[in-house]
Amino acid sequence: MAGNIIFIGNFIHADLLTELKLRTGFLKVEDGKITQIGTLQEYESLVRDGAWSNFKINRLNEHQFLIPGFVDCHTHAPQFPNIGLGLDRPLLEWLKKYTFPLEKQYSDPKFASKVYDKVVKRLLTNGTTTACYFGTLHFEGTLELVKSAIKHKQRALIGKVSMNIKNDAEYYNDTQTELAEVEKFVCKVLEYENDLVQPVITPRFAVSCNQELMDGLSDIAMKYNCRTQSHISENQDEIEFVLQINPTCKSYTEVYDQSKILNNKCIMAHAVHLSDHEMALLANKGVSVAHCPASNTRLRSGLCPVRRIINNNITVGLGTDVSGGDNASILDAIRRSMDVSMSLELQGTKDSSLNWKEAFYLATVGGAKALNLDEKIGTFNIGKDFDALLIDIYADNSQIDYYESSTDPNSKEYLMELLERFIHVGDDRNIVQELLDTQIQNIKPNSFTEIPMA
Ligand code: GUN
Ligand code: FE
Repeated sequence: MAGNIIFIGNFIHADLLTELKLRTGFLKVEDGKITQIGTLQEYESLVRDGAWSNFKINRLNEHQFLIPGFVDCHTHAPQFPNIGLGLDRPLLEWLKKYTFPLEKQYSDPKFASKVYDKVVKRLLTNGTTTACYFGTLHFEGTLELVKSAIKHKQRALIGKVSMNIKNDAEYYNDTQTELAEVEKFVCKVLEYENDLVQPVITPRFAVSCNQELMDGLSDIAMKYNCRTQSHISENQDEIEFVLQINPTCKSYTEVYDQSKILNNKCIMAHAVHLSDHEMALLANKGVSVAHCPASNTRLRSGLCPVRRIINNNITVGLGTDVSGGDNASILDAIRRSMDVSMSLELQGTKDSSLNWKEAFYLATVGGAKALNLDEKIGTFNIGKDFDALLIDIYADNSQIDYYESSTDPNSKEYLMELLERFIHVGDDRNIVQELLDTQIQNIKPNSFTEIPMA
């Protein structure tokens, strides 16, 4: 049956934070799921037996390999028109001056549809096969993001942003309207019965949402078994303000804990300035963290101690956080996470840096775990969805030129070097787009054409 496909070549995924799994062999995909994995010898003997005569065969060359699709655990689709602009103010001023005025424009679903279509395509081009998105306050506008993700077959968690505390931009709803709109949004997304897209409850942060709203939102999350996402402890002024308006709470984390939104289906972005006590509370509740290094430096929020968060048994994935972050690519987030953590180490915090293998883990299976999607994606294992990127190190126009290597091209070391180079200097030109275009998560019968091989 068309739609059934066998890849022959090299496959790499991260099993543990410190352990990459490199395989040379075959990987069989049937109707979008990985159904068999084996060695080249096993493949040859099965072919001799005529077992797979009706499968499409894709033989990767020695400069190509498969990795799991990237997971962006935190980004703001409506903020893409501002990417690279207005980064001269710290968080609260930046929101007021640049972000809320832009987001208000998404009351127009036509504008929303135009932007969101481009955003989803941009992320897929960069290898982000799964994204956890903030939309805006608007029901219709955010529904356009759902439609774009479904249209382009991106796996997505999508939240209609909730806010009920007054701001200068008049960009908020009263509590009852907001709760009704969120429930309507959740029901509408669930109506699509699409395996790829889920609604996510999205209180913007404790500066924009009071306890009454957050209580109501946590009830909706419980009722529909939804994930929750928000921001926590990103910037010192933000933390001060949150404690000022919640005088009975000792910490930012406690503010969220009071409204029961902290649980093992909750992901919090940033977590730059958490105390040990707050980290223990998050770990205890099973909350995961989206580490957004680009945004944290661009908005001068701080250097996030990502190693300390990991060591506190909190599941961590990476986020681009556009447009606080200035880059839509998870490859950039990987590099920025290495740089930020190395800056902390260079300033004297021992053993805080992440190496490239660890950052690759966070970008793939770490993100999948942080979004509770690791039963479906993140690694190459039998039974999982085939959600992969085909990497070609020497693709046309690649930043990486071919040089004869002294490493044996048939060795694991050689393959490791290819991945190391992709992680450090690769970009979308090294991601073979045909594989993405033919829809990796949901290969439908007759919809998968053979990938041209070099
Ligand atoms: N905190 C609340 N809203 C936002 C946002 O849009 N971006 C960032 N970086 N932080 C936030
Ligand atoms: Fe954010």
